Amino acid sequence: DLSGYPHYMLKEIFDQPEAIRNAMRGRLDLEEATAKLGGLNMNPQQLLRIQRIVIVGCGTARHAGIVGEYLIESLAHLPVEVDYASEFRYRNAPLDGETVVFAVSQSGETADTLAAVRESKRKGMRVLGICNQVGSTIARETEGGVYMHAGPEIGVAATKSFTSQVLVFLLLAVLLGRLRYLSARQGKKLLEAIEKLPEQVASVLARHEEVRAIAEKYAHADGMLFLGRQFQYGIALEGALKMKEITYIRAEGHPAAELKHGVIALIDERMPSVFLCPQDGVYDKNLSNIAEVKARRGPVIAIASEGDDRIGELADDVFFVPQCSELLAPILTVLPLQLLAYYTAVGLGRDVDKPRNLAKSVTVE
Ligand code: M6R
Repeated sequence: DLSGYPHYMLKEIFDQPEAIRNAMRGRLDLEEATAKLGGLNMNPQQLLRIQRIVIVGCGTARHAGIVGEYLIESLAHLPVEVDYASEFRYRNAPLDGETVVFAVSQSGETADTLAAVRESKRKGMRVLGICNQVGSTIARETEGGVYMHAGPEIGVAATKSFTSQVLVFLLLAVLLGRLRYLSARQGKKLLEAIEKLPEQVASVLARHEEVRAIAEKYAHADGMLFLGRQFQYGIALEGALKMKEITYIRAEGHPAAELKHGVIALIDERMPSVFLCPQDGVYDKNLSNIAEVKARRGPVIAIASEGDDRIGELADDVFFVPQCSELLAPILTVLPLQLLAYYTAVGLGRDVDKPRNLAKSVTVE
């Protein structure tokens, strides 16, 4: 059911306020200033014994895992490793009894992710799932987990499943953090900010026409770079994946500091760079990277925080997202990137919901 939208992808982008509301429903415990994730099937003692987390997934799911890595490390101070499920399954990674493996998959049927689950179980690991499809193979074969509750996702490009996955990681980070170093005051502040997300997401999506105008301006670019740091690094990767998969424009995502190590050689007036630079701990670093790109005549599109009065002087185009904690910002900054890919693909006449060579669920290796 397209509910009047021209494509499933657009519908699913606009489903996001509701999808993330569903992902947090019944899981915010403001009284105890923590998150409730009963599906993990682990009691506080067991959760406290976790020494290390490994996150596996493919494509968009792995990108959500990368954002999750930064969230869990900063709120729970636990070492986290993220890997492609396809690499992990053949790696013979050293794991021990205090490691917990999280398999992230919208469909719950991705062959490589399932194989990574089975390999980890063979090694005696506790494996938990973060899935959308209830009763899917990965959901069934894991000891527990967290359902995203994003609702059906039909477009090949993952959109609402991504923001729901990031939200689940946020809740997990709060829960693990509250068992360790996070104070009740900090936990409560975060939960209150999380509660505001659906409204903030809706307010960003309401400005979709601004993104459409940017998409029209750059639709004929030779390629596109997506650059971000820290909490925005996974978003840079995700923005590039969305762009390449539905528009076929060559797009690359990198940590912004990698520019100097090779990427900057690609910059010229036909290679726009999308910078993820909300007001966070690395904002000034991003500004110097933007200046380096501008000095080489590269067009810059910035995704910045409302109230930022410096960015306009440097970037050619700016899309503003509401101010929020840097921990929550990825859920807002990814939205204009989804819309940018969508409107660019529509402008180029692409088959948005069924891009060439791709399947919604990759059930063979
Ligand atoms: O169903 P899954 O989450 O396991 O799927 C993983 C990837 O195949 C998927 O995210 C893919 O990268 C999407 N088409 C990206 O938009």
